[in-house]
Amino acid sequence: METLKRWIAESNRIVFFGGAGVSTESGIPDFRSVDGLYNQKFEYPPETIISHSFFRRDPEYFFRFYREKMLPLGFEPNITHKKLAQWEAEGKLSAVVTQNIDGLHQKAGSKRVYELHGSVLRNYCTRCHQFYPAEFIRDCPGVPKCACGGIVKPDVVLYEESLDAETLEKSIEAIQAADLLLVAGTSLTVYPAAGLIRYYRGDRLVLINRDETPYDGYANLVLHQSLGSVFSQL
Ligand code: APR
Repeated sequence: METLKRWIAESNRIVFFGGAGVSTESGIPDFRSVDGLYNQKFEYPPETIISHSFFRRDPEYFFRFYREKMLPLGFEPNITHKKLAQWEAEGKLSAVVTQNIDGLHQKAGSKRVYELHGSVLRNYCTRCHQFYPAEFIRDCPGVPKCACGGIVKPDVVLYEESLDAETLEKSIEAIQAADLLLVAGTSLTVYPAAGLIRYYRGDRLVLINRDETPYDGYANLVLHQSLGSVFSQL
């Protein structure tokens, strides 16, 4: 903790790279922890359901699963989200790169947030591209339809779909320019997201994660603790 505190005090181009573990203390389950979404029993593996081909094949089932398990509305940012927004306002943090789709970083006041996997807050008609809010998806039964008849699809990167090129590019730029890279609350098992941390050029890559990750040996500092306990000391 002392080293982390010193590195943070000395940095003014911090980049935070986060995953589902950042939002668990707000009440949103992650995917791969023992109580995570992917360890619950469903008719199909969740990674199959939230894929592009499944969305096309069985939109009824997709939206039932999505509404029940993937639509985190009504949750509040926690201490980690708030501290990051504060550092940005103080000119210490240059960007948040997140795999999360819950919009909690922006809700906490963060401005420069690169959402690698999109956001549940943005939903577009697949035919006319009309925008719809998350509440529209939450409140409509069955498959959400646009006034023009097209299916309304969440702006969330499904398996088999590519990430937004501009978001990727800006995330890489921010990571390359970072003096301190804080990687937190992610199992670092999903690509291309996980591979982005390799663009960091410095020697202050910090990994804060409850469980071990494949990048533990690659980081300069590893804290296997909960984010709430670490950020309440920062
Ligand atoms: N403090 C610290 N670490 C935590 C906390 C916490 N409060 N809660 C959970 N974690 C850690 C867990 O130990 C786990 O290793 O966060 C990690 C979350 O990993 P995953 O559940 O795999 O989530 P993530 O890495 O974001 O998944 C990446 O997978 O299915 C896709 O698109 C989905 O964006 C997601 C991607």
